[in-house]
Amino acid sequence: MMLSGLTQVREGTTDLLVPEGHSKKGPGTKTGEIFYNRQMEFGRDVSVMFGRVAFKEGQAILDGLAATGARGLRLANECGVRADFQLNDRDLRAAVLMKQNAELNSLGHVKVHCRDLNSLLAEQHFDYIDIDPFGTPVDFVDAAVQSCKNDGVVAITATDTAPLYGGYPKTCLRRYGSLSARSPFAHETGLRILVGFVVREAAKHDRAAEPLLCFHADHYFRINVRIRNGAARADAAIKKLGYAAFDRSSLRREITEDRNDPKDAGPLWCGQLIARDVVKQMAASGDLGTSGRCAKILEAWRDEAGMPPLFYCMDELARKTKLSPPKLVDFISYLEEKGAKASRTHFDPKGFKTDIAAKEVVQRYKSFAASLRKKRLKSNV
Ligand SMILES: C[S@@+](CC[C@H](N)C(=O)[O-])C[C@H]1O[C@@H](n2cnc3c(N)ncnc32)[C@H](O)[C@@H]1O
Repeated sequence: MMLSGLTQVREGTTDLLVPEGHSKKGPGTKTGEIFYNRQMEFGRDVSVMFGRVAFKEGQAILDGLAATGARGLRLANECGVRADFQLNDRDLRAAVLMKQNAELNSLGHVKVHCRDLNSLLAEQHFDYIDIDPFGTPVDFVDAAVQSCKNDGVVAITATDTAPLYGGYPKTCLRRYGSLSARSPFAHETGLRILVGFVVREAAKHDRAAEPLLCFHADHYFRINVRIRNGAARADAAIKKLGYAAFDRSSLRREITEDRNDPKDAGPLWCGQLIARDVVKQMAASGDLGTSGRCAKILEAWRDEAGMPPLFYCMDELARKTKLSPPKLVDFISYLEEKGAKASRTHFDPKGFKTDIAAKEVVQRYKSFAASLRKKRLKSNV
């Protein structure tokens, strides 16, 4: 098959032939062409950083919905691991293009499949399975958590953010068996709903899904979970599911074991989203096209790893107290000076996480903002 209308681009150290009119549509959009979105380069850079830490020699690594092969070929080319890399897409034109792209990068050993992903997953086991669909990943999660070898990793993108953010709670309930809700921290509850869904899908098969690196960026969620065998481990993971309650007037947010209000978001994952030892080892090397952004997000992930769920936003505090917000870094330092744990969060440039209750957060915001106002007035006199 001869493919026409292609142009060559470079991501990291990998060359890719992609459709000429690429990236005209938003992320995760079906256009009839072989899919390629340059805006997702950052997400692929993160996959490369993650693969450099997680992959081991000889593993079976699958890019299950590969399109041009951009992610899978970059993993094969840039992670420095000799492994059994495989790419799959049910679109024959995509399979032809990814073969061409493999040859372009002297990666002739990479296997290319042109299969329905679920049927491929039913036949083979992999150490790493990447699922990067148009919109929701729900069609593939059950097959992926079964096909993944013990101690392997399943990586999933979800671009159906509107239902997960709380815009369409009924759609979220149908897809993920979980109710979403709007709130200032809805990006975090959306991600936690997705993780909770994967945890429940794995638990059906006596397997635990343990988050290694789960994040929100641009208009998508991305999760990397380790799959481990054992009913006891699966039970322990299920125990970390709960609900997120939010009271708009007091700003109180709380993780609860049961749903106390019909509007509470959940069930959702209440445990850690980021494993500190993983993000500590990841490096934003200069060969990555978005290395500057990667370095910044690594710093934010390292800061917030281990912090409690449900971040605050400076804007909601400013609205509630009618006091204009201080600089985020200054307020975080102030909270720390007063004995609280506090950090930035990657979810929101104006967001922060802390271990103190909402009432105290509001009080400390008021006293800090008021002291700044006093200082300003004094300096104006
Ligand atoms: C969003 S694109 C993948 C993008 C790619 N991972 C990248 O980084 O550029 C989704 C791909 O999944 C393929 N696809 C959709 N359903 C599939 C299925 N059931 N089995 C295999 N491939 C499928 C589509 O043909 C499309 O190429």
